[in-house]
Amino acid sequence: MKGLAVLTSGGDAPGMNAAIRAVVRTAVAEGLDVYGVRHGYTGLIGGNFIPLGRRDVGGILQQGGTILGTTRCSELVTEEGQEKAMNQMKTRALQHLVVIGGNGSQAGAYALSQRGLSVVGVASTIDNDLAGSDITIGAATAIDVALESIDRLRTTASSLHRGFLVEVMGRNCGYLAAMAGIAGGAEAIVVPEAPSDPEAVAMELRDAYARGKSHAIVVVAEGAEYDAAALAKYFAEHHARLGFELRVCKLGHIQRGGSPGVADRMLATRLGAAATDALQAGEHGVLVGVVDGRLVRTPLRDVVGRTKPLDTSLLELARVLAQ
Ligand code: F6P
Repeated sequence: MKGLAVLTSGGDAPGMNAAIRAVVRTAVAEGLDVYGVRHGYTGLIGGNFIPLGRRDVGGILQQGGTILGTTRCSELVTEEGQEKAMNQMKTRALQHLVVIGGNGSQAGAYALSQRGLSVVGVASTIDNDLAGSDITIGAATAIDVALESIDRLRTTASSLHRGFLVEVMGRNCGYLAAMAGIAGGAEAIVVPEAPSDPEAVAMELRDAYARGKSHAIVVVAEGAEYDAAALAKYFAEHHARLGFELRVCKLGHIQRGGSPGVADRMLATRLGAAATDALQAGEHGVLVGVVDGRLVRTPLRDVVGRTKPLDTSLLELARVLAQ
């Protein structure tokens, strides 16, 4: 019987468990022997495998995080680490590996596929910066979490006539900030993909108050040239001139936690099943993702080292809507 191993790697994302469940149940249905690898590539290198059957992945669809655990593993970047990983698969006579994760994780998947392993990647990161999929597992839920926080902060902002800088995750990508800012009705959005000038942000806030708004919310991407701390410093230094009160709220890892919403459960389920389909069809060295609503397989060599550009025209729309 052929064998498949599945692992989650990098930052956890809501929906990873739904993807694990889909991989396991579709692979078992295809007659494959399935193993889960604990703690990402660290477990692959160290031989931390557990057998997974249909019942082992029951009741996890709605759980955030990953039941398998995850790590950011620097050892897999080395020749030695990759050889160890290959040997662990060989020792167990496992032919296939499914890697659920983002950019760094898919770079690892590509390295192993270059060594001859049959690997398929599943696009998963809250950052939604991965080439090869319009949307990645976890991003929709992370935006919803940010939105709930923005809605709550607006209550205080309006009551006290106060400004808020809300910093969201996303590494070097402004997708989370742009979506949360637009859907949350922010007065300004600051992302790494567009030039950020603290004075221009201050003017947007001052204009918002001048137009009669009782609050001013700025959504800031953590990777922006001026992150929330840098903007707050600038505003504090120029407080007398600018004249508005401001608080900083950094959402951080709160965005990665919690139960996946319907979009992430469905995406993860489709992509998990698509990974098994690709391997059964003899196609590997690819990432499974969704492009224009359709499941697609993109060679990992075209995914690694690339990031998906943000549609910056959305920022102009946000500016108009904030008026
Ligand atoms: O890639 C997901 C992500 O949450 C980024 O948005 C963030 O910059 C990073 O991971 C944080 O990494 P860690 O959890 O290792 O601190």
